[in-house]
Amino acid sequence: MKALITGGSRGLGRALAVELDRLGWHVTVTGRDQRDLDEVVSTGSRISAFAGNIRDETHRVALAGVVGESLDLLVNNASYLGPSPLAAIAAFGEDELHAVFDTNVVSPLALVGRLVAPLANAEGVVVNISSDAAVEPYERWGPYGASKAALDHASSILAAEEADLRVYAFDPGDMRTAMHQAAFPGEDITDRPLPESVVPALVRLINSGRPSGRYTLSELEVLPA
Ligand SMILES: NC(=O)c1ccc[n+]([C@@H]2O[C@H](COP(=O)([O-])OP(=O)(O)OC[C@H]3O[C@@H](n4cnc5c(N)ncnc54)[C@H](OP(=O)(O)O)[C@@H]3O)[C@@H](O)[C@H]2O)c1
Repeated sequence: MKALITGGSRGLGRALAVELDRLGWHVTVTGRDQRDLDEVVSTGSRISAFAGNIRDETHRVALAGVVGESLDLLVNNASYLGPSPLAAIAAFGEDELHAVFDTNVVSPLALVGRLVAPLANAEGVVVNISSDAAVEPYERWGPYGASKAALDHASSILAAEEADLRVYAFDPGDMRTAMHQAAFPGEDITDRPLPESVVPALVRLINSGRPSGRYTLSELEVLPA
C-alpha cells in the first residue's frame, strides 16, 4: 500500500507516517525542512521524503511524478495558521490571507487534481485534515477556521464527484505540536495530547471502508472498529 502525506515531517503527519511504515505501507512524506524530513525517514524502512513547498506548483507536479500510476492514500495535512500571535480577521494583511487559503485550500485541492487518476486506479482514500475551528467561530482563528471550513466543503464535493474514492475530512482535536504552540505562544501546552495518540483512530478510519464524510477524533473513538 502506498501513501503520500503532506507535512509528514513533524506533528500529526510524522506520527501517521511512522505508524503506516510500521504497518507495512510505503510512505512518501513532504515538507520544507530537509533535516526534519531526514529524521522521519530514519525512523523506518519504507519512508521516503520529497522536500518542497506544497504551495509551489512545480513541487506538486514533481510529487505526481513520484507517485506514478497508483496511490492508495493521500493525506492533505500540511497547513498554515497565519502569523503568531493570531490576529482578528479584519486585521489580517492580504498577503497573509492569501498564504493561509493557498496553503490550506488551494494547494491541497490542486494536489488532488494532480493525483486523482492514480488515486482512482487504487480506489484510494483522500484525508483532508480539518479542525474544530472549521465549525466553531473562535475569535482570532478567522482565516484559518474559514480555510478549514472551505476544505471541509470541498471534501464533500470531491466525494460526490469521485465515486471511486473515499474522501474524509478528519478533525484530530488539540495536539501538542509546533502549530498548536504557535497558536498559544508562550503558553504551556503540555496538557494537550501528543499527535501519536490520534493516529490509531485515523488509521482505523483509513482502513474502515466507512462512507466519505467528516469525522472527528471523538466520534471515531466511540465507533466500533
Ligand atoms: N495541533 C493541533 O492542535 C491541531 C488541531 C486541529 C487540527 N490540526 C491540523 O492538523 C494538521 C497537522 O498539524 P500539526 O499540528 O501536526 O502541525 P505541525 O507540527 O506544525 O506540522 C506541520 C507540517 O506541515 C508542514 N508544512 C507546513 N507548511 C507547509 C508548506 N507550505 N509546504 C510543505 N509543508 C508544509 C511542516 O513542515 P515544514 O514547516 O518543514 O514545511 C510540518 O511537517 C494540520 O492540518 C492542522 O491544521 C492541528
